[in-house]
Amino acid sequence: MIAQQLLQRYHSLIDDPQAFLKCMEQPPPTCIWANPEKASPEAVAKFLQSQGISCEPLSWYPHAFRIPHWNKPGSTLAFATGWYNTQEEISLTAVNALNPQFSDRVLDLCAAPGGKTAQIATQLQGTGTVVANEVQVPRLSSLRAMLDRLGILNVVATNYDGRVIPLPNHSFDRVLVDVPCSGEGSLRKTKASWNQKYPDYSSRIAKTQQKLLDRALQLVKPGGTVVYSTCTFAPEENEAVIDAVLGDRGWLESAKIPQIRGMDGLRQWEGHSFREDLAHAQRYFPHFNNTGGFFVARIRRSDVGLKFAAQKKEHTSLHPIPQPLPESQVFQWFCYRFGMDPNLFANCRLWAKGKDKLWLTNAGCEPPPRVFIQTLGMPVLRVEYKPTTYALQRFGPHITRNAIALDDFDAVQQFLLGKSQPLTASVEPGYVHVHYGDYHLGCGLYKSGLLRSQIPKSIRTMVGLVNG
Ligand SMILES: C[S@@+](CC[C@H](N)C(=O)[O-])C[C@H]1O[C@@H](n2cnc3c(N)ncnc32)[C@H](O)[C@@H]1O
Repeated sequence: MIAQQLLQRYHSLIDDPQAFLKCMEQPPPTCIWANPEKASPEAVAKFLQSQGISCEPLSWYPHAFRIPHWNKPGSTLAFATGWYNTQEEISLTAVNALNPQFSDRVLDLCAAPGGKTAQIATQLQGTGTVVANEVQVPRLSSLRAMLDRLGILNVVATNYDGRVIPLPNHSFDRVLVDVPCSGEGSLRKTKASWNQKYPDYSSRIAKTQQKLLDRALQLVKPGGTVVYSTCTFAPEENEAVIDAVLGDRGWLESAKIPQIRGMDGLRQWEGHSFREDLAHAQRYFPHFNNTGGFFVARIRRSDVGLKFAAQKKEHTSLHPIPQPLPESQVFQWFCYRFGMDPNLFANCRLWAKGKDKLWLTNAGCEPPPRVFIQTLGMPVLRVEYKPTTYALQRFGPHITRNAIALDDFDAVQQFLLGKSQPLTASVEPGYVHVHYGDYHLGCGLYKSGLLRSQIPKSIRTMVGLVNG
């Protein structure tokens, strides 16, 4: 029914209606990418093989796999401990077009739930700074949970309306604007009920999309790249937005990926003509590559219309800017307790933010001025000498003292559910690192023959893990 309605609206753009309808009736294949912070693509492929799951590596995106039949990619130990992330395959094209380079300063203006933020952060190989902004607080929490699970250190999260975010103008090498949209391209995945929202919904959301793109053009440096993307087919939310906003502040560059089938951006729609270079944008209908639907445009910023005007300052007494900590007793304790060489952290910085937690970032991470920072890098320690589960998951392979190896999958389940269990282990009483083979599970408290799980409540909900 939904597919029929979409076909009716876009019949002039869809070359093969039968293929489109057939594709919309089936769930899309699953896509995962190996997290270079924790596992090689080979290790992930081996893990999939051990589970009897067949996969194909994507020819156009390194470290990613297409898995035709797998509906529970989030219910494995490998997922829970951050070996891989799941993401709609065609949405990988946005960061492909953004093409982040070593040490770049990148802004992800509409970031949650965070798949593209994580993609950018890992493509930077842990260098530079990614500012991940999201307006909705609960969605920001999901983004944080994903980054902590993946052990990512180079992301700073903020919580602003992206249309008016008070970051300094022209301070980013690249900006991703993956805007809220009518989501037609995700209907195959979500199977959500869908009411034909036109023309109202698209024209209303298009105003927000225009303001978000406009702010992105103010925030990127001249010569820098802005990528505008949506998961909808609606030209009102795609070509028309760019046509209305860009002017001479930039031009479109090709977003084509030779290995996959796309369609050039439109030059006209329902009597409206769009600028010529919009043909460089790419539209993806689901039946082109057996994926969701997507739109992506890559814009190069010109040096026209730059605005370096002084901006209103945030109230800094309410929002202290975090300062790096050169030395920390508690961090020295952390290295000693778990037998880790402090040189492992030579390219990291430790920050105090608030009273109770210490945060770890890569050395090149520079939190932006003028904005309130929600989180930066990864929380590693509480000042009362307690390591976080995320830190132990991230640095588990380097731990040489006070580690407990579980050898029974039921014990693993109990631990991940936050339960205590009797256990004999030759470790010093206190906080311990708990692992199951190569899976680094996190923090426990061992005392008098009892192991108490310290897994945070928010990740205890991940039940039904399969063994592997
Ligand atoms: C399409 S989703 C982004 C998906 C994300 N880039 C990813 O890959 O996981 C759009 C996001 O923009 C957020 N959003 C909506 N209006 C916003 C605004 N004015 N400023 C910043 N974020 C906004 C929504 O809450 C939503 O999380």
